[in-house]
Amino acid sequence: MATISPLQKARAAYQPKLPAVLEVHGPFVTLRDGNPTTSVADQADIKQQFPGTYGLPVVTFTPGAQRETEPLAVGVILSGGQAPGGHNVIAGLFDGLKDLNPENKLLGFQGGPKGLMKNKSVLLTAEIIDAYRNTGGFDMIQSGRDKIEKPEDFEATVATCEKNGVRALVVIGGDDSNTNACLLAQYMLDKGKPIQVIGCPKTIDGDLKNEQIEISFGFDTATKVYSELIGNIQRDANSAQKYWHFIKLMGRSASHIALECALQTQPNVCIISEDVAARKQTLKQIVDDLAAVIRARADKGMNFGVVLIPEGLIEFIPEMQKLIHELNDMLSEKSEHKHYFDGLKREEDKLQFVNQKLTPESSQAFSSLPLTIQLQLLSDRDPHGNVQVSKIETEKLLIDLVGDVLREWKAAGSYKGKFSSQAHFFGYEGRCAAPSNFDADYCYSLGYTAAALIGGGRTGYLSSVRNLCAPAREWEAGGVPLTMMMNLERRHGSAKPVIRKALVELDGKPFAAFAARRQAWAEGTEYVYPGPIQYFGPSEVCDAVTRTLLLERG
Ligand code: FBP
Repeated sequence: MATISPLQKARAAYQPKLPAVLEVHGPFVTLRDGNPTTSVADQADIKQQFPGTYGLPVVTFTPGAQRETEPLAVGVILSGGQAPGGHNVIAGLFDGLKDLNPENKLLGFQGGPKGLMKNKSVLLTAEIIDAYRNTGGFDMIQSGRDKIEKPEDFEATVATCEKNGVRALVVIGGDDSNTNACLLAQYMLDKGKPIQVIGCPKTIDGDLKNEQIEISFGFDTATKVYSELIGNIQRDANSAQKYWHFIKLMGRSASHIALECALQTQPNVCIISEDVAARKQTLKQIVDDLAAVIRARADKGMNFGVVLIPEGLIEFIPEMQKLIHELNDMLSEKSEHKHYFDGLKREEDKLQFVNQKLTPESSQAFSSLPLTIQLQLLSDRDPHGNVQVSKIETEKLLIDLVGDVLREWKAAGSYKGKFSSQAHFFGYEGRCAAPSNFDADYCYSLGYTAAALIGGGRTGYLSSVRNLCAPAREWEAGGVPLTMMMNLERRHGSAKPVIRKALVELDGKPFAAFAARRQAWAEGTEYVYPGPIQYFGPSEVCDAVTRTLLLERG
């Protein structure tokens, strides 16, 4: 038997909370339809591409009566990056399906979409599920970043479902994976296959949210883990008073994670990518601003501080954004240059080739970067054609460039401080943490809701649980049509229907709360030390939601 930690043992006994409608009626709810919906943009194109699922109503669960349901087999995949609570989504789905009919079966397809296409699955038994309740990670069935994209991928998926008698699929994923779920739902309808597809909103990045989806799961736990670490570093910085810590935080394009961590910990500087883009700040201006904060603190004898940097910053700096678009197009599978580029063996040749093909402005932006960053920008794209921002060491780039400016100022006599730095990247540390009480409850509810949507015969929906600032009993469960979140975006060199990413809204309350305090945090030392996630104890400590959610919805 595997050895488990005392905390794991205690958490195994935790019974996640459900919204009252599910707690009382189980999955036998009535699905109340709202008005027909439209996509967030590009309505005509999205409608044309998703004729079977476009315009579906938002669904809310209301009390319903117990009824007979035929036994059915359901498949589930975890797709994309890990996020705390994924196992609880599966546990909630399993319990919901068994409550619908104890004969129901749940198959876990292993390694993400690839498992589905290659028919690699495990029958999820009560024993397996019980071993993973309230645990972090995706190791129950693993995840993957493959895409169901080509006609043969869709055919393989149908073949797998038919071989296993699967009548419904649950895709637990982020914006790209749920875009895939939407395509899959439409495909099943087109081909007359009686296979429902339901998504669940996963991602630590917090960028899969909108009016109906208040937050994706995993954001709560991951930001609490990073905030604990940032708090610890802040205390170290204030104790030794000799280092500037530059901390890059995961989150891909959107800066939700950085913003939430800043609200929790009050660092000296937190860069928000969306703010950079709105102000059209160049890399030089960002660096000068940072150097100015460091100099002002040094003038007061404070040669230390903490800077938070969102992972996707580089994509939001106007000249870098243009550069990355050109590189993405040049290195996309469809590009006429891709084959030749891949054939080049030496780094110098790759750099020279790329430089020749870039526009003069982008070539200049590219050349202004240190060699390591240039090479990181050329590294492999993810399966969706995006540059892998987690591999670009922006924290080191900024340290490098800020150091140059401070040296110049020192030579000119306008800076007298000492600049010693430490670089950090927090990302993987938080993605598999044991889910907070919030994520444990939210994920279990999302999974259970997916089972109820399946029981209600729906397809092309994202499982939704709302009113999340209230106690779990008051949460509202239902479903949101996936097409409602779609728009067209450029991927692999052409316009594709995708779920729109939610970026930080500069007129939203979380950013406003941050902007009102950032000057004071830069000038003083107003650090907050959140400490580790607590699972047992007073509710205000254990069940607190993120600042972002509280400010947006509280
Ligand atoms: P998802 O969008 O799939 O949830 O992934 C989130 C994320 O953690 C990003 O924050 C990060 O940029 C990326 O995954 C890292 O990807 P990988 O795990 O492939 O290194």
